Amino acid sequence: MYKQLLAKLIIAIVCFYGFGDYSYAGDELNCVLCHKFRGLSRIDKDGKFRLFYINQELFDSGPHRRNKCKDCHTDINKIPHDPAKKVDCTQECHMVEPSSTEKFSHKSVAKVLSKSVHSPVDKNGKEKKFKEDYPGCKDCHDQPFYRPFSIYKGQLKAGVSKRGISRCKSCHTRGDFAEDFYEHVTTRLRKSRFPMETIEACAKCHQDKAFQERHDLDDVVTTYKQTFHGKMIALGSERTPDCLDCHVVEGENTHLIEAQDVPTSAVYKTNVQATCRTEECHSKASAKLAGFQTHVTYDREKYPLQFYMLVGFKALMAFVLYFFLLLIFLELLRRLFPGFSFFKEKNNNSGDN
Ligand code: HEC
Ligand code: HEC
Ligand code: HEC
Ligand code: HEC
Ligand code: HEC
Ligand code: HEC
Repeated sequence: MYKQLLAKLIIAIVCFYGFGDYSYAGDELNCVLCHKFRGLSRIDKDGKFRLFYINQELFDSGPHRRNKCKDCHTDINKIPHDPAKKVDCTQECHMVEPSSTEKFSHKSVAKVLSKSVHSPVDKNGKEKKFKEDYPGCKDCHDQPFYRPFSIYKGQLKAGVSKRGISRCKSCHTRGDFAEDFYEHVTTRLRKSRFPMETIEACAKCHQDKAFQERHDLDDVVTTYKQTFHGKMIALGSERTPDCLDCHVVEGENTHLIEAQDVPTSAVYKTNVQATCRTEECHSKASAKLAGFQTHVTYDREKYPLQFYMLVGFKALMAFVLYFFLLLIFLELLRRLFPGFSFFKEKNNNSGDN
């Protein structure tokens, strides 16, 4: 009798502590116990300020909330810690990817990235020049960009509409299954960044003068901002193409950006028309429209036509401006000195008086 009761009690305790809802799922090692303090920081050897504070609310609303701290910080094993290694974004974690049933990792992204123009090694596995200029995951993903899909009743929460979940619940009745999957999909129904944020992410490298010289590339960001597309985006449009819309083939992995001379690139000469011709953009784009140049610099050798047109227009502007300025000046003179003349008229004075 007592034995049975005791057994029940033990089971109850085990259930409560063993399978109960942790206040914080990713943190079975109590990392947040210390890392929740805002002041947890120091100045390191090089004088750089390092913040070790973890904002739990932010972490809990991010995509890695179901990861344990140690999934990523694999080398933190004791307290006080040894200096931590950089986190490897491609390591496997405890989760399983349902379509393949393999352990989840971002290796697939790294694989695509290695085939793109942003890979630091070339086709033959040889390191490219200036390899530190090539972006790693954290160069582009430097802050959380999660923008809920919020057309429904203007709400800014994840998901199209919480009411939509009631449909899923008709069949998926257990736990948070419906919520998790619903949000998983619907938060990704639009780009995660505002177009201007995407442009700024690319601009970190591509607008840098020294970078452009090292890689013999044009200032694509400034020139893009001068075009109609760039101006629309500056005005807040989200329908206008940003860098990704033109440089990633529709439906392809976002990470597959290729050089313009690669035949499968979205901006390869013969593919440009198809790139313009998406449902959302210029569905009837002609070859002529596709000839529109997004990144024209006024470089005499590269774009002679544009260069001389610019010179021509500048000359015309200057001529018109200075011509009318001169007219206004002469007019002003006449009004200030109505009787003034360079040429003395001989008979004027004697006749009238
Ligand atoms: C007892 C308090 C405490 C606990 C528990 C704790 N940390 Fe820390 N952690 C610190 C302190 C203090 C620092 C700053 C150390 C320093 O000044 O170098 C730090 C620094 C770090 C750093 C940066 C270290 C570096 O050298 O770059 C990482 C990463 C980190 N902790 C991860 C974790 C993880 C993951 C866990 C849980 C497994 C954890 N911490 C648990 C106190 C703690
Ligand atoms: C999805 C992977 C991932 C998870 C999960 C994760 N981190 Fe991090 N963490 C990173 C990355 C990436 C950095 C940036 C520094 C780097 O590249 O190593 C970082 C940086 C840090 C730093 C600052 C270290 C520094 O060098 O300035 C601390 C402290 C830290 N994490 C603690 C934690 C704690 C505590 C948790 C659990 C609540 C956690 N992390 C969960 C990936 C992760
Ligand atoms: C050249 C910049 C760039 C680099 C480098 C890069 N990414 Fe991305 N990544 C992006 C962009 C842009 C998106 C799509 C964002 C959008 O559509 O709004 C994206 C999307 C993703 C997504 C999907 C995010 C989601 O929740 O929907 C994952 C996962 C991802 N990247 C992981 C990685 C990893 C891991 C690496 C390193 C191996 C990496 N990325 C390197 C630019 C980059
Ligand atoms: C009419 C009943 C029904 C409704 C409504 C429904 N589902 Fe399902 N769902 C199923 C069935 C049955 C399966 C299993 C199908 C199979 O394996 O082929 C499934 C499978 C899934 C899976 C795949 C699970 C896995 O691990 O492979 C996901 C994710 C999912 N549903 C999410 C949702 C979401 C989100 C909604 C609401 C937008 C929803 N479902 C609405 C019946 C439904
Ligand atoms: C960390 C720096 C860095 C960031 C951030 C970056 N790139 Fe690059 N990008 C490079 C380097 C390096 C090259 C290769 C230049 C070369 O081949 O010499 C390159 C090449 C390119 C090319 C090919 C140019 C050609 O030869 O036709 C395109 C297109 C491109 N990047 C677009 C983007 C876009 C879009 C983004 C933002 C999502 C971006 N890049 C972000 C460093 C960066
Ligand atoms: C409207 C489509 C479009 C948009 C938007 C766009 N590009 Fe381009 N990009 C092109 C085309 C087409 C080319 C091929 C050369 C040309 O026509 O100028 C190109 C060429 C490039 C090159 C190679 C330039 C060189 O010097 O060889 C880079 C790098 C590049 N783009 C990066 C970007 C970045 C970064 C952005 C965002 C700020 C961006 N592009 C926005 C269409 C676009």
